Amino acid sequence: MFAPAARLASKRLLEIRQIFRQSPSQTSRSFSTALNYHIDSPDNNPNTPWDFSDTNKEKVKDILSHYPSNYKQSAVIPLLDLAQQQHGGWLTVSAMNAVAKIIEVAPIRVFEVATFYSMFNRAKVGTYHLLVCGTTPCMIRGSREIEDALLKHLGVKRGEVTKDGMFSVGEMECMGSCVNAPMITVADYSKGSEGYTYNYYEDVTPKRVVEIVEMLRRGEIPKVGTQNPQRIMSGPEGGNTTLLGEPKPPPCRDLDAC
Ligand code: FES
Repeated sequence: MFAPAARLASKRLLEIRQIFRQSPSQTSRSFSTALNYHIDSPDNNPNTPWDFSDTNKEKVKDILSHYPSNYKQSAVIPLLDLAQQQHGGWLTVSAMNAVAKIIEVAPIRVFEVATFYSMFNRAKVGTYHLLVCGTTPCMIRGSREIEDALLKHLGVKRGEVTKDGMFSVGEMECMGSCVNAPMITVADYSKGSEGYTYNYYEDVTPKRVVEIVEMLRRGEIPKVGTQNPQRIMSGPEGGNTTLLGEPKPPPCRDLDAC
């Protein structure tokens, strides 16, 4: 007889097998190649002018000061991050070229980094970019239903931005909150690069993610962390199940008696 959790896990594994049996055209999931190529478009091509703002130029200087002058290339990630924040959550080819020029490397060295790390977006995202964790613990706990609820509520496909520019939905791999799976992260660009935040919402349900979206739309700030009122942070639902009394100290040997 399966325990409920084991039965659920077994059901999910069957679903996962089913997904990988489908051809790419049968599923909405984007495969890794989609994340790696670039096609020129009117707002994203090497001739689009792009530069750091005056405020961010000061930040660039500060970031570079953390590295020896002959190792400027080590600043590639913080500089790409700053460029992405300035550009409303995504990196154009011109922004990556600007970073390459600053750190004095061939642009391909910067493209390699930006295509490897999924926190860098190379296509437009919404003011609130909603990232659903798709790794196994979250998948077993229902991340597919979470994503479906978001896509259906917002009327977009994965990677698309809503018509009002406010929301987009993407996927990330494990974000380290498996104990409170399933979870989503919201990259919030509503206050520009100065007020940019990256917020985790854990123990979410399809209903709760829709509520979070609507709160964001109204300009409210949903409480981050677990969305399960029965839990304190990552503690067990309903209160402690172990360590209920004073812990018994370990026995001490009387060394003098040895
Ligand atoms: S699997 Fe989703 S946070 Fe780790």
